[in-house]
Amino acid sequence: MKNIVILISGRGSNMEALIAARDAGNLPVRIAAVISNRPDAPGLETAARAGIVTHFINHKGFAGREAFDAALAECIDQFSPDLVVLAGFMRILSDGFVSHYAGRLINIHPSLLPAFPGLHTHQRALDEGVRIHGCTVHFVTPALDHGPVIIQAAVPVLDGDSESSLAARVLEQEHRIYPQAVRWFAEDRLQLANGRVRLAADTADSAVLISPEVR
Ligand code: GRF
Repeated sequence: MKNIVILISGRGSNMEALIAARDAGNLPVRIAAVISNRPDAPGLETAARAGIVTHFINHKGFAGREAFDAALAECIDQFSPDLVVLAGFMRILSDGFVSHYAGRLINIHPSLLPAFPGLHTHQRALDEGVRIHGCTVHFVTPALDHGPVIIQAAVPVLDGDSESSLAARVLEQEHRIYPQAVRWFAEDRLQLANGRVRLAADTADSAVLISPEVR
């Protein structure tokens, strides 16, 4: 069984979706640890309640990004992870960190990348007037919110949507696609090869999920 380490900075609902999938027998992984850069991340409490080892490494205690990333990598590596899962981890990672975990570092982003990298994705989608919005799981590369796409889910932008109603609709899909992506990795069906995603999905799987409202 593969070891995963989950990195969070806040609420941790994607982490919870992964724990729930594991508990339901749908995700054959060992969640070796949950690590936060914020001591007050509510997700740490949730993870501890689920009996998972938790750590926090406060980025504010380090002179710079490289020093923090080195301490973070040291903490992560004691768990020998096959996969490091960024789940709302709100830090830009140094190139050294990213290359250390090449092919075993994934992220979830609340937009259909390459649209809307960075913050405030839902408000920006509303401001642009796009009709389709969504979320993306991707392998992490040095460019922020960029990298080979593993799976995406699309949701409609509805008349009258607010930032929070749209965010809620996207989050529901995040909680579907992140466990799916990690499951593919756990089952040795997902790989990064020459910068491209190689996915041996069976016919029941799709790397594109369309929410019922779009269909
Ligand atoms: C999610 O929208 C995720 O896509 C983004 O940050 C948010 C984290 O939410 N990277 P949570 O902490 O998983 O609830």
